[in-house]
Order: sequence, then structure tokens, then C-alpha cells
Amino acid sequence: MITGASRGLGEHISRALTNYGFNTLLCARDMDRLNELADEFNEQEPGDSVALPIDFHKPKTLRKISDAIPKQWPPISVLINNAGHYKPAPLEDTDLKTFEKHMDVNCRGPFILTRELLPKMAEIGGGFIANILAPGAVEGQSEHCAFNASKFALRGLTLSLAEEFYDRGVHLVAVNIHGEIDSEEKRTQQPDRDPSTFIDPRHVAREIIHLYEQPRGAWTRELDLRPSRH
Ligand SMILES: NC(=O)c1ccc[n+]([C@@H]2O[C@H](COP(=O)([O-])OP(=O)(O)OC[C@H]3O[C@@H](n4cnc5c(N)ncnc54)[C@H](OP(=O)(O)O)[C@@H]3O)[C@@H](O)[C@H]2O)c1
Repeated sequence: MITGASRGLGEHISRALTNYGFNTLLCARDMDRLNELADEFNEQEPGDSVALPIDFHKPKTLRKISDAIPKQWPPISVLINNAGHYKPAPLEDTDLKTFEKHMDVNCRGPFILTRELLPKMAEIGGGFIANILAPGAVEGQSEHCAFNASKFALRGLTLSLAEEFYDRGVHLVAVNIHGEIDSEEKRTQQPDRDPSTFIDPRHVAREIIHLYEQPRGAWTRELDLRPSRH
């Protein structure tokens, strides 16, 4: 299960996991794009891909997750909490609604999914959860109070559950993307920027596979990825 699969990093991670051979459950709000991706993956790969509408601002959609998973599928053993909401603003422009939106998408949603899936992973003796962070999960930045609070919280959730579940075979890892992810949109917005200063989302996806493959006894709990130039 990959959240935020409709574009950006989530799309790349979904592609990499599908290529690796997983059945992928692609989650986000934009169902047209998710169905397009699922069709593309199903044409190319032997694994099943299914699009699943999830809106983290509407928790009722989250309560139906179990019902939405195709019945013939084995239990979900991999969860990538990648969906993100990012609207930096000075404190004066950060009202409660803005704060709650960040918390909903970046922390409360991942908590609800984890609460549902993690105990089942432990029951079957193993699983893998990667939570995607940003520099704001470990350091302060001006005009980022809501976003950074939500990513700090997601980091706390990840590290606490990693401690609680490692001896039940579930590998939780906080993946901190310490830089800007490359995209066509970013290159258009910053035409003079050296592209090598961006992080290639395909390389992040490759790291996720690498983390998934780590043998028990040598698990990364927190990974910091950054470009070699900035
Ligand atoms: N981009 C960067 O430079 C950068 C840097 C460091 C860390 N990160 C982190 O990396 C992750 C991916 O970033 P990105 O830039 O690839 O993201 P993005 O292109 O902005 O895409 C965000 C994804 O989250 C989904 N999403 C947003 N609001 C949602 C909601 N209410 N309910 C369900 N899904 C929702 C979106 O899908 P729908 O709109 O279809 O719902 C989309 O698939 C995020 O966690 C971000 O914080 C990004």
C-alpha cells in the first residue's frame, strides 16, 4: 500500500514496487490518475495494481480500508506513508484549520493506516513500513510551524513503533528526504538551478527497495537522503 501514489515520489515508489513484483494498492484522492497508473502497471507487470480512493481529511474513507482491499489478496505486508501536505506560512497566517490539515495528511492518516495494518503484520510475523519525512522532521525552519510539527510527529510515531514492534518482525523506518525532489514542475520554476542539486525520486524509490530487502538483525531505523551537491 502506497499513499500519495498519484504523482511525485509516490508514483515513483509505486512503479518501483510494482516492477519488483508486488501487488500494489495505489492510494490518493485523484482517482483518474490512480486508475491510469494501475492500468499501466497491470499491462506491464504480472502483479495486480488497484487504485483506492483515500482522503486523509475525510477519516470515514479510511475506516473502510479493509473492505476495499481485494478479497483474494494476502494480508498487506508493506505500507509506504508518502502522502504529504505542504503549505508553509508564517505563524500569523497559520490558522487552526491549516494546522489540522497538515496533521491530518502527514501524521493522523499514517497513524490510522498503521493502527489498522501493523498488528496484522505482527500476527503474520513480519512487515515493512516506511514513513517519508522532510528536513522539518528534525530541525526548525522559519514559516514552517504546521508542516514541521506534523513531520516531527510522524518521526516520533515511526521511531516509537519501531521500538515497540522490531522484535515482532515489523521493520519501521523513517526516511528523511533532505533536499528537493526533482520534477518537471520544479525545473520549470527554477530554470537556472543545477539539476544535480535535486534528489532523483527514482533513487529514493531504489532506497526503499533496499530498506525492504534488509535482513533482520541489520535494519535501518532512520535514513537521511540528500544530494551530494546543494
Ligand atoms: N517534494 C520535495 O521536494 C520533498 C522534500 C522532502 C520531503 N518530501 C516528502 O515526500 C513526500 C512526497 O512528496 P511529493 O513532493 O512527491 O508530493 P506531491 O507531488 O505534492 O504529492 C503529494 C501526494 O500526496 C497526496 N495527498 C495530498 N493530500 C492528500 C489527502 N488529503 N489525502 C490523500 N492523499 C493526499 C497527493 O494525491 P492527491 O492529490 O491525488 O490526493 C499526492 O499523491 C511527502 O511526504 C513530502 O513531505 C518532499
